[in-house]
This record gives sequence, C-alpha cells and structure tokens, in this order.
Amino acid sequence: ANPSILILAGDGIGPEVMAEVRKVIAWMGDKRGIAFDVSEDLVGGCAYDAHGTPLTDATMAKAQAVDAVLLGAVGGPKYDKLDFSVKPERGLLRLRKEMDLFSNLRPAQCFDALADFSSLKREVVAGLDIVIVRELTSGVYFGEPRGIFKEGNERVGINTQRYTESEIARVAKSAFELARRRSNKVCSMEKANVMESGILWREVVQEVHDRDYPDVQLSHMYADAGAMQLCRWPKQFDVIVTDNLFGDLLSDAAAMLTGSLGMLPSASLGAPMANGRPKALYEPVHGSAPDIAGQGKANPIACILSFAMALRYSFDLGDEATRVEKAVEKVLADGVRTADLMGPEGGTPVTTGQMGDAILAALDAS
Ligand code: NAI
Ligand code: MG
Repeated sequence: ANPSILILAGDGIGPEVMAEVRKVIAWMGDKRGIAFDVSEDLVGGCAYDAHGTPLTDATMAKAQAVDAVLLGAVGGPKYDKLDFSVKPERGLLRLRKEMDLFSNLRPAQCFDALADFSSLKREVVAGLDIVIVRELTSGVYFGEPRGIFKEGNERVGINTQRYTESEIARVAKSAFELARRRSNKVCSMEKANVMESGILWREVVQEVHDRDYPDVQLSHMYADAGAMQLCRWPKQFDVIVTDNLFGDLLSDAAAMLTGSLGMLPSASLGAPMANGRPKALYEPVHGSAPDIAGQGKANPIACILSFAMALRYSFDLGDEATRVEKAVEKVLADGVRTADLMGPEGGTPVTTGQMGDAILAALDAS
C-alpha cells in the first residue's frame, strides 16, 4: 500500500496554503513516481460548523491510523465567542494529546535570499539551519497542583514544573535521533542551577546519551545563556533540546532570526508506530490569518516546508525533502515574493497560487 496522509486543512488560510501542498503531492506522484494515499477531513471551526465539535471521533480515529497528518490552521473571529470546550483550538489540542505528540520540532532556517529580513545582521543568520526540539506534553503547562488558591488573606497562583525520567528520556532520544540525520550535535538547555527538574533533565539527557548515543556530540547550557547565544551566534547550534516552557520561548525567538511567519514549518512527533516511524503531525507555525484569508495573499511556503518535513521524518524520503527545500530556495533567490516577504522597497507580490506554481516549476527544473 502507498504511505497514507490525512489532510486537515482547517480554517482561514489553511485550505488556501494546503491547496499548494496538494500540488506538490501530485507532482511527487506524476514526476517522481512517489504516490501517497491522501484523505481529507475537517478540523477546527469548519468541523464545528458541520458537526458541532472541532474534531469528531471518526476524524480522530483516522488521524491515529495514517502515517502522517498534515494540518493547515484552525480558528477565526467567527468562533471567538464559542465555549472553550468546542473552540477550534480544542481540535488541535485533542490531536496532539491523543496522538501523544511529545516532541515538537521547530526548524529555524534562513534562506540566503531572505537574510536581510532578519532582525539580526546578515552574516549572523545567512545559511542558518537549526532545529529546536521542544517537549510538548508535560512540564509546567500541565503539572499538578495548578490553580489560583486562597492563602491567608491573599490569592496565590500556582503552576508546577514536573518531569518524570521517562518523559525526559523519550524527548532526548528523539533529539539524538534527529541529530544523527543532521550534523550529530545536540545542545540541551535547562536551568539546573536553580531548578530540581533541571538537574534531573541534565542527568537523564546525559544518561540517554552515554548509553545509546555516545557518537552524538552533547553539550549542556543554561536556558537563559542559551537565549543569549541564540541571538549572538545561532550557527554554533544544530539541534537544541529543551522543555515545554523554555522551548516555547526559545523557538519563538529563533523563528524571528529568520524572517516571516509565512516561512516556518513544524513537526510534532510521538512514539514509533508498528512501521518504526513516529506518529506525526506536520503544520505551519502560523495561524489562520483571518486578516488576509480569502484574498490569495497567504504565503504557502510554511505549509509546503511542513510537507517536506513529512517526507523526511515520516516517509524516509530525505532526498525528496531536500528537493522541495531547494525548489523553495530557488524561487526565493529568483525574487518571487508573496506580500509578507516584501521589504519596504516594495514590488509586485505574487498570489498564493502563483507561489505554488513557481515552486512546481523549480521542481520541474530540479
Ligand atoms: P496568525 O499566524 O494567523 O497571523 C499573524 C499575522 O501573520 C497576520 O497578520 C497574518 O496575516 C500573518 N500571516 C500568518 N500566516 C501567514 C502566511 N502564511 N502568509 C502571509 N501572512 C501570514 O496569528 P493570529 O492573527 O494571532 O491568529 C489568527 C487565528 O489563528 C486565531 O483564531 C488563532 O487562534 C489562530 N491560530 C491558530 C494556530 C494553529 O492553527 N496552529 C496557531 C496560531 C493562531
Ligand atoms: Mg508560542
């Protein structure tokens, strides 16, 4: 059977950028003989409109059964007043939770043609290619006790940073596996100087390394120093592994090293399935962009690069992933720009569909 993909395009610009990914998927079949079984379903506001829930049990079951899920984006002003239990975001949260996607890969890659878009100097970011691996299902966002409690005559807000050894070990393992496919280098970040969970994090990452990945070069850094180093000289890193909270901050900061939100892909990986590949969901970092939805202005590159990550991590087609990334690089070098990639000097932006077509033409030439 062909490898299977479930497309959940979602709301707003989700379906617009996903239409361009579908072109790339079709191109892979036509021109490279690499066919996928693609099915499509609803998530988010559109699922609520159709079924009264942002993710039906049937869709959830499909997501569990496929080799990879590709998600567009969910949400929009139309749904802002809904009860939290049926908000579009809940559909995405349910997918992440029930698929147990504990390892969130956020690449920060700076295409040369966009280096002047960065908030940092060109030489600091040009050619940057790093991945932040963020633990996604535990830590201070989930730990108990949590809540706002009465203490004497005032209130106290409590969250608990909590990590078990196995939670640390599995995300460390996923970072080491990733490093082996790249330049074999991992930097682990925590605050072992002031946090018990940080001490355990450092110990367990080191143990997993020494036992199973002695070939990978491992270093440890305090997360605050790491934030500084990311801004000072990001190219010193390759894979960074860190917890949920620090990863949230560090990945957003790293994203801004590289320019537009419309360029940023992500992968969320879980435990290996029967075929040895991890459960996986791929999505652009951006949301449903209601301000530009329906106008053909959305940049499809983040979603297309998310599909490239699927080729690499779910289908073991690293060469094809590189082919897609090179096509994106070529199109940018040729000066093709959606509106979000236009500098103050201006110019004529292309539409979402034209950007997709330009990438296909670059693929044809590859
Ligand atoms: P957003 O990412 O949708 O948009 C932020 C800004 O970036 C907007 O000005 C938008 O036009 C621009 N932008 C985003 N993606 C773009 C693209 N591909 N091409 C060109 N420009 C792009 O974030 P915002 O505005 O905070 O949220 C809008 C909706 O999306 C909300 O309902 C929010 O809950 C939802 N959202 C969903 C996410 C998801 O599905 N994973 C993630 C973030 C937000
Ligand atoms: Mg964030």
